[in-house]
Amino acid sequence: MRVTAIGIGYLGLTHAVCMADLGHQVLAIDVDEEKVAKVARGETPFFEPGLEPLLRKNLDAGRLRFTTSFAEIGEFGGVHFLCVGTPQKSGETGADLSYVYGAVNALAPHLTGEALIVGKSTVPVGTARDLLAHAQALVPAGTRVSLLWNPEFLREGFAVQDTLTPDRFVFGVTADEAGARADAVIREVYATPLSSGIPAITMDLETAELVKVSANSFLATKISFINAMAEMCEASGADVIALANAIGIDKRIGRRFLSPGLGFGGGCLPKDIRAFRTTAASKGVDSIVSLLSTVDDINLGRRERVTTLAREAVGGDLAGKKVAVLGIAFKPNTDDLRDSPSLDICMRLAAEGAIVSVHDPVAMPQAARGYPDFRYADSVHEAARDAEVVLHLTEWAEYRAIDPAAVGQVVAQKILVDGRSALDAGAWHAAGWSVHRPGQPPMPAR
Ligand code: UDX
Repeated sequence: MRVTAIGIGYLGLTHAVCMADLGHQVLAIDVDEEKVAKVARGETPFFEPGLEPLLRKNLDAGRLRFTTSFAEIGEFGGVHFLCVGTPQKSGETGADLSYVYGAVNALAPHLTGEALIVGKSTVPVGTARDLLAHAQALVPAGTRVSLLWNPEFLREGFAVQDTLTPDRFVFGVTADEAGARADAVIREVYATPLSSGIPAITMDLETAELVKVSANSFLATKISFINAMAEMCEASGADVIALANAIGIDKRIGRRFLSPGLGFGGGCLPKDIRAFRTTAASKGVDSIVSLLSTVDDINLGRRERVTTLAREAVGGDLAGKKVAVLGIAFKPNTDDLRDSPSLDICMRLAAEGAIVSVHDPVAMPQAARGYPDFRYADSVHEAARDAEVVLHLTEWAEYRAIDPAAVGQVVAQKILVDGRSALDAGAWHAAGWSVHRPGQPPMPAR
């Protein structure tokens, strides 16, 4: 089939590459000429495991091309995936929909014959129906445009896997013949993954939009719940990890997304729950507003809590103290710094006068460009040299292989704050470190 992808950020580029890998002919567009030139050379503009080889494979196979021309997109094919971003509005909690509307405005006048727009971006409920009306008003006479909402649930670090073999497909359609046709077309596009038994649920447009924001809100709530329990454990001398392990065995609860620590960050969860809260407020649904406000407050409180652990570890005053930070990406296996809890903590530490020395396996070039005031170290040992406290803030697998005795040789003080409770605390403690973890009793140096 001939499909297009509009926007080549995390979502759009991954989607374009994966659609080509399913055997479709794909043309993808972005307004950023530099980005288009880069991906056309086979280079991904961000770190995502497995994506670059797949991009090259499909460029070489001639199934994937890139452009900056909407006229070419309109002419190319009948199924257009809308993959542009919906970031948080500057200074407000709501979603900025200007890219979504901008894309439809630019695309619609070039559509011909039977055209289907498939929305993948995360949008406030009601946007899809409005976009359809908008597109219908803009298409040339004789063009029939329909719209289907197919929210994306991909996780960074697993983007290819989540696109090609998601847990489920959700198809939001209009309750008319055009909706039934759109449903048939999208099932043809995804015929390969659907044939392997992945569930696909067809529903109305509004429910499909809400499925996405409710999934992210549920995940965020789960993380904030365990972080609230971490606070309770600290107040009671209990251990939140033992607690999470015990309640997680209950299948109704489940252990995943019950890891306490710095809380959630990234380009999706924080802005999506804020946008959803804004939508709920506009509809007078106070229960959602208060639930998500609490979830957000608990989450942001974690960053202050870990900063406090660091301050207390160096004797109550961070000014002039060298702090080593391991991991600056918002989570492992990405170089994404958007709303990174670790980056936020680095800024808090620096604001209190600490000398922040950062290591991250992949996100350092990105961080150094945006935040030149931190020191960047090529190795864990270099970051830790003469540090008064070592903060483990992004749980890259390679940090679990650190030899605590060897790092202990280069620091000024053997104090570890494991903000993710992901290191082997027993091994660090045995090597003479005092270990502090949110929600767990401290392990003073022996
Ligand atoms: C998320 C959703 O998982 C995905 O379905 C949606 O499409 C986009 O948003 P992503 O932003 O890639 O994906 O990250 P995710 O793996 O969900 O992690 C989000 C944040 O929560 C990270 O900062 C992570 O460190 C944190 N987290 C996750 C916890 O603090 N504790 C946990 O137990 C799990």
